[in-house]
Amino acid sequence: MVTEHPTRPASRVRPGERAREALQAARRRTLALTDCLHDAELTAQHSPLMSPMVWDMAHIANQEEIWLVRRAGGRPALWPHLDELYDAFRHPRADRPTLPLLTPTQARRYLAEVREQSLSVLEELDEARLTGEALLADGFVFGMIAQHEQQHDETILATHQLRSGPAVLDAPPPAPALSPSPREVLVPGGPFTMGTDHATDPWALDNERPAHAVDVPAFFLDAAPVSNAAYQAFIADGGYREPRWWTREGWAHRRSEGLTAPLYWEPDGAGGWLRRRFGRTEPVPPDEPVLHVCWYEADAYARWAGRRLPTEAEWEKAARHDPATGRSLRHPWGAEDPGPGHANLGQRHLQPAPAGAYPAGAAPCGARQLLGDVWEWTASDFTAYPGFEAFPYREYSEVFFGGDYKVLRGGSFATAPVACRATFRNWDFPIRRQIFAGFRTARTARSAEGAVP
Ligand code: AVJ
Ligand code: FE
Repeated sequence: MVTEHPTRPASRVRPGERAREALQAARRRTLALTDCLHDAELTAQHSPLMSPMVWDMAHIANQEEIWLVRRAGGRPALWPHLDELYDAFRHPRADRPTLPLLTPTQARRYLAEVREQSLSVLEELDEARLTGEALLADGFVFGMIAQHEQQHDETILATHQLRSGPAVLDAPPPAPALSPSPREVLVPGGPFTMGTDHATDPWALDNERPAHAVDVPAFFLDAAPVSNAAYQAFIADGGYREPRWWTREGWAHRRSEGLTAPLYWEPDGAGGWLRRRFGRTEPVPPDEPVLHVCWYEADAYARWAGRRLPTEAEWEKAARHDPATGRSLRHPWGAEDPGPGHANLGQRHLQPAPAGAYPAGAAPCGARQLLGDVWEWTASDFTAYPGFEAFPYREYSEVFFGGDYKVLRGGSFATAPVACRATFRNWDFPIRRQIFAGFRTARTARSAEGAVP
């Protein structure tokens, strides 16, 4: 008789069971984020940067219908006339409020009807047929749709942060932390394995594949993300008034937008700063990683500090490379699924934890908080890995490759564990500030500092 170990890691859970749990966790979050608002708030456009939340709700259902009900299940379309309305490529966010969208009541019904069907598809396919065909192998398409819903939930949370009006969300603050010492860590030079494969990580998305070797010279990386206190020193030193710290486009953007501090900050009238966070105004906490800065601001800060942003390969090497084995880990701390002691993920808190938190989540190089807290801007453009193949659709990643987007890594406090791992790649325009993004800085090691292995 085979007995199952009660604390087996989730990666050993049967794919069908893991898929069901991931879909249900995403749905609990979608409903929690939207049930707390009146219909008028769900249909309003809180910023031209964002969709009305009711668009995200029905778009989540529509993608699930397309991929789980129709493609995986081979079942007929439920609400086929909605495909056009909820196609993100047909309608830019700013135009979405003018569309004949479903009402919140209809969107909830659509979500529920699709979910009932997709869970029954999952039950039909469960186990025996969650193999073979690439779309179904190890429950990939179910994992993809759970990640998609969670990504939109993070976007809905960013819309909550943009809306004005009284607070409707609440969560306990993260625990205090001691700042890490030393301030920076050395990542030795040499090759490492970047990216992953289906066999290693069945729910990784197309842009994370394939695994390939990258040679990364020795460098130093901040042990934790740049804090509000450090960023305030940049502001106080005239960082926003000095063109020499900024790229040409960055300076032009800073001037035309009148940027003087991170988004949601305002002076407190006594030389300090306040910030608005989910409907409440509070003093900016000095120890927390800075949040809501665009790539241009992160890049200017790094130059002011005599440093630079890490490349995407440097970031991933710091997060995954284990010098003891020469192999790459799934998460900085190893293969174990993210727990509350590893990282600030999954909207357990509505803010980043202080810089230096989560020693148990440190990478082999000693850097902390690589996953969770704040998305981290990297120096790199979003491009395809050598051997990339679009899967299962070009519009997830391929159409965004090129020079327009910068890569962000590591996830934020608002990112669900299912959509976060050391190989996960996010991207956005270098002007974006409403996403939950901060950064850390790096510098190339000189040979006397360990650049030569
Ligand atoms: C990977 C976060 C850039 O939200 O625009 C959602 C994810 N793709 N629906 C986004 C996504 C299609 C995407 N990002
Ligand atoms: Fe989407």
